[in-house]
Amino acid sequence: MTNVTKQNRIQKRFTKVKAPIVEALQQAYLNPTYQFHIPGHTKGAGALPEFKRLIGSRALNIDTTDEFDNLGTLHPATGPIKEAQELAAKAFGAEKTFFLLNGSTAGNLAIAMALTKKGQKVIINRNCHRSALTGMIISGADPIWVNPNQFEDWGIWGNITPETIEETLKSHNDVSMVWITNPTYEGVVSDIKSISAICKKYNVPLIVDEAHACLWNFNEHLPTSALKLGADAVVHSLHKTGGSMSQSSMLHIAKNSLINADDVEKALKLLHTTSPSMILLASLDAARANLESQRGRKALARAVANAKYLRKEIDKMEHIHHLRPDFGYKTDVTKVFIKADGLSGKRLESILEIDFNIEVESASDNGLLILSNIGNKRSDIEYLVKCLNKIDKAHYSDIYYLENKKHMPMLTPQIKMSLRDAYYAEKETLPKAQAIGRICAEVIAECPPGIAILLPGELITEKHLPYLTDYECIEVIKKEG
Ligand SMILES: Cc1ncc(COP(=O)(O)O)c(C=O)c1O
Repeated sequence: MTNVTKQNRIQKRFTKVKAPIVEALQQAYLNPTYQFHIPGHTKGAGALPEFKRLIGSRALNIDTTDEFDNLGTLHPATGPIKEAQELAAKAFGAEKTFFLLNGSTAGNLAIAMALTKKGQKVIINRNCHRSALTGMIISGADPIWVNPNQFEDWGIWGNITPETIEETLKSHNDVSMVWITNPTYEGVVSDIKSISAICKKYNVPLIVDEAHACLWNFNEHLPTSALKLGADAVVHSLHKTGGSMSQSSMLHIAKNSLINADDVEKALKLLHTTSPSMILLASLDAARANLESQRGRKALARAVANAKYLRKEIDKMEHIHHLRPDFGYKTDVTKVFIKADGLSGKRLESILEIDFNIEVESASDNGLLILSNIGNKRSDIEYLVKCLNKIDKAHYSDIYYLENKKHMPMLTPQIKMSLRDAYYAEKETLPKAQAIGRICAEVIAECPPGIAILLPGELITEKHLPYLTDYECIEVIKKEG
């Protein structure tokens, strides 16, 4: 096939949904140059042949960074990258969208750096992701923790009430921002509309970490995105559920935002690599185009239908239960949190993995999380249902309970020092038992879900021990003298 015919074919494919970075990369692929620049594998020629075979020669051929081949630049956004970000902003209902490498982690770090300085207060839920608290360590902001509801039967965090936010705002008149994780990892949704109205009343920006909810704008059966409910900025991990490649995310600045997008971009420029992967950027462009396309909308509708089917089948089981979408709080139907009578979540996870070759998103003390994805076929879900039915009827024993190990931290912290001061203080490392009663000097937040067990500046108590079974030693603040 000649290059012109190839080009025509490709052009036809893109007439329906525009994907500027994907198109530019295609052009670069079809019109190769003699390459004397990075990456040094030079379109794969210098790569290990086994790796090239594994990943595919085309993947290496298009592995390049911005600046070259008319692909535009990321900071400042130019060319196809700028165009792709603008299309994404439109699709998600934002004023401005930044493509992120290093995941939503980069977005959270940039938010903290752009909006807060040392000693400034941030109202934030305790079950936030560790990237938010890393951001506060960098900027020096002081978290004012708010505790969401706890659903003890399920061993998970729930929603954050607007009342909690209002009370906290009332008692602190110098807050730089309210920073909310929504939904929770397990899909529980908070009333962002009311929280946003409260933040507006107090003239404080609202940032919503919607890392797990980039699909919401593309299906009417899913909750409403915070961008439509008055948040000032929103982070989306497109790679988690939106179909882009690992590490690629988006940070959206809302219309009429209180936030200055230039400040955010300055922070992103400091944080981002200077060699952005065009493959990752193209995958963000492609994921947005896919979600907007008929095909993508169908795939998402199928994911929703699959989740409903799975839930209906679980309803028929005797010993397996799911966190129902109508249990009193709003949830994202595609995130199916299940538990089995007499089995810990970790034990159920290992049965699924070892006996049935099924890997789930995560497991914790009481249950485990199944994601009904845009890439799952109905037959995948049918297989899962078949296996769950087998487990429901079998008599598995729970070896994990004997270990007294806990995975979902739900403790109220006793704060003795500021996060940043403790992080940079002189430290010593002690065996775990001797660390009790001392002030923690490190971030202890296991992934998933990346929620803090202990943070720098917090008192270590016996209550932490069941969460620390994998730790022999802990870094604590050095005692003076
Ligand atoms: C609520 C939340 N925010 C942010 C992140 C960080 O996302 P990423 O993995 O895209 O860096 C995660 C990751 O699990 C998360 O759960």
